[in-house]
Order: sequence, then C-alpha cells, then structure tokens
Amino acid sequence: MKKDINFKEDFPILGREINGKPLIYLDNAATTQKPRAVIERLSDFLSEENANIHRGVHYLSMNATQSYDESRSCVANFINAEHDEEIIFVRGTTEAINLVARSFCSEKLGPGDEILVTEMEHHANIVPWQLVAGEHEARVVPAPITDEGELDLDRFESLLNERTKLVAFVHVSNALGTINPVKKMTAMAHQRGIPVLVDGAQAVAHQKVDVQELGCDFYVFSSHKIFGPDGQGVLYGRKEHLNGMTPYQGGGDMIEIVSFDGTTFRSSPERFEAGTPNISGAIGLKAAIDYVNDIGWETIHEKESLLLNHANESLTKIPSVKLIGTAEEKVPVLSFTIDSAHPHDVATILDTKGIAVRAGHHCAQPLMKRMGLSATTRASLSFYNTVDEINQLAEALKEVTALFES
Ligand code: ALA
Repeated sequence: MKKDINFKEDFPILGREINGKPLIYLDNAATTQKPRAVIERLSDFLSEENANIHRGVHYLSMNATQSYDESRSCVANFINAEHDEEIIFVRGTTEAINLVARSFCSEKLGPGDEILVTEMEHHANIVPWQLVAGEHEARVVPAPITDEGELDLDRFESLLNERTKLVAFVHVSNALGTINPVKKMTAMAHQRGIPVLVDGAQAVAHQKVDVQELGCDFYVFSSHKIFGPDGQGVLYGRKEHLNGMTPYQGGGDMIEIVSFDGTTFRSSPERFEAGTPNISGAIGLKAAIDYVNDIGWETIHEKESLLLNHANESLTKIPSVKLIGTAEEKVPVLSFTIDSAHPHDVATILDTKGIAVRAGHHCAQPLMKRMGLSATTRASLSFYNTVDEINQLAEALKEVTALFES
C-alpha cells in the first residue's frame, strides 16, 4: 500500500472548513463521517425506492423489502453470522444491550446473582444491567483493569462464579482504544456455562469481526460508528437463544396471530422488530459495509497502524502531554491530559484551529475514576485521517501548552 494513502476525497464533509481552517476530524469514536457511496445510496433510496416493507404487494414495497433483507444478509456475512435470522436491526448499540438485558438476562436473575462487566465499559454497557439487576436484588460486578488500561485477565477469571448469570464487556474501549482478548474471555465464561455479550461499537470500524470465531452469544454495534447512518444498529444473537426470548417490544409485524385472548409471536428477527423499522438506515448500513469491504481490512489496518504509531510518537515527544491508555493491543484512539489545561479548554482551543476532538468522561465515568481523572481529551482516528493531520494536532498541542504555561 502507498504510505499515507488519502481517502479523504471519498468523504464530502472532510473537504470543508471549520473556523476558517480545513477540518481535521479526530472524533471518529463519537461518530464516523459518511462516504459519498452511503450518501448517494440514501439519496437514491429516498428519491426513487422509498416504501414500507413487509406490508405491500406493490412494486415499491416488494423492492424495499428485498433491499432491507439484502442488508440483513450483508451484515450477517460481514460479521460471519451463521444465519441471517441471527441479525436483528435495532436503533443502535444501546438499544441492543437493553434488549438483551430485558429479554434474555432479566429472567435469569435472582437475589445475589451477578452480571460481570469490566471497569472500562461505556455507560451503555453498565446502566441497562444495573436496571435489570436492581429489579432482582442482583448486582453488576466490574472486573479490574491495569494502570495501562488493559483488562486483568486473571482477576476477570477469578470473578466468574456460580452466581454469574451473564458476562458483558467491550471489544474495544471507546475512551482508551484498548482491544480486549474477546475469544479468551468468552472461552473462560463458556467453560462455566455463562453466556457472553460483546459491545462491538468501537471495534467494527477497525477490524474484521467474526462472531463464530469469537464464540460470543451476542454481539452488538451501531451503524454510525462504521460510516453508516445513525439511528440504526445491529444485535447479533445465537439462534438457539433468540426464539426462546420474550419480545422486547410489541407491535405490528412481530406477531403471528393477535386476538383479545392472546397473541403469538413470529420467530427472529421479526420477533424483535416491532413497528416500521429504520428502512433507509439498514440500506445505508449495507452501503457502508460495501464501502469498507471494497477498501479491505488489510489496507485499513496498514493505514491505521501507521497513524497510531505516528500519533504515539508525536504526542509522547510533548512533555506536557500524558497519554491515558497504553495497552499493547489498541486501535488509534489517543486519550490524554495536559498539565495545567482542562480537557474542555484543550478541545475548545483545538476547535478554533479546525481540529475536532472529544473532551470529557466519554460516557465512561467509572473508567475515569479508575484512572484517577474526571476527564481526558480524546483524539480518535479513522483510516481517512493523515500523518499531516497528526502533525498539525501535535503542533496545536504545543501551542496550547505554551498558552497555559505562560
Ligand atoms: N460512545 C461515543 C463516544 O465514545 C459517543 O464518543
């Protein structure tokens, strides 16, 4: 691959200026930008093909139904699910986790039971479990992490016990970039008969996910984190679980027969897709996956490791910058603090230079507490970023430091 190959032209927004400066978009963990392929597919669908699905015998409805079903097959292939029916379309990662908490986990819980998570979870993989645990006098237990931001695997294993009813953990940390050893963690839980949910929101844009290889019971992610539209997400669940689960929501299209004596439900995926779904969202997600597949994981990995190495090197050279999260295995997410400057001030000054980063607790307050912080500044990269953009970030951080030290 050509060094530092430039993909920015595929993304119209990356050509614009912010505050009079060319946009340097380093907030990809919050949401990724959308390639022209996705924007045009959405525009074509809404201009030429829009109709409701599964409800009409007219041409447009049948055509939209076919496109929606093709999107499901595309997602199944993308993460190597065995069956299309194992892919449920939801609003996003958060809704997928809430669905599993309500429809799968809740009925397994009793007083004293535990749901094991890690200290590096996003709130979306803590709060839904706390809600169901609270209803059954059960509790959410966090597995500790090291100062580098890696999971302590021995402690994780020692926390698995007969009270553990589910294990839920993040594949890639949104705040630190740490990649967890998902296959090992899943095997440890399965040896004890405990089902596993993996929050893949921050993983899917950076690496090939193979749910059969990982062995997990549930895998969840959002379309907007992988160059697709927002309001669209995916719950993968193993078939053996799904049809025994109580539906999450009731409504049209998820039923077999409705009467005032009672209602019977369809099997997965319709069982969990009550009401008109986000049809264009699913179709846009397929366009995003096709785009990623066209580029290929090898190219994405090469580019991202070039960027990560360069960013690590550049930021480490600035004495005032302290990197938070230095795991051996990580994606190009760089969380940091700067002596004497609050993360919000750092982000605000960077914004004046057209550089978009996130500052705050990153919806991971327990993680921040573990690291002894209330907030960090986070630069989260994608394969469309460039070495030159990282150089500009480093220069800007030197200026910020000078400003606060003067
Ligand atoms: N979870 C997203 C982030 O980390 C919003 O920024």
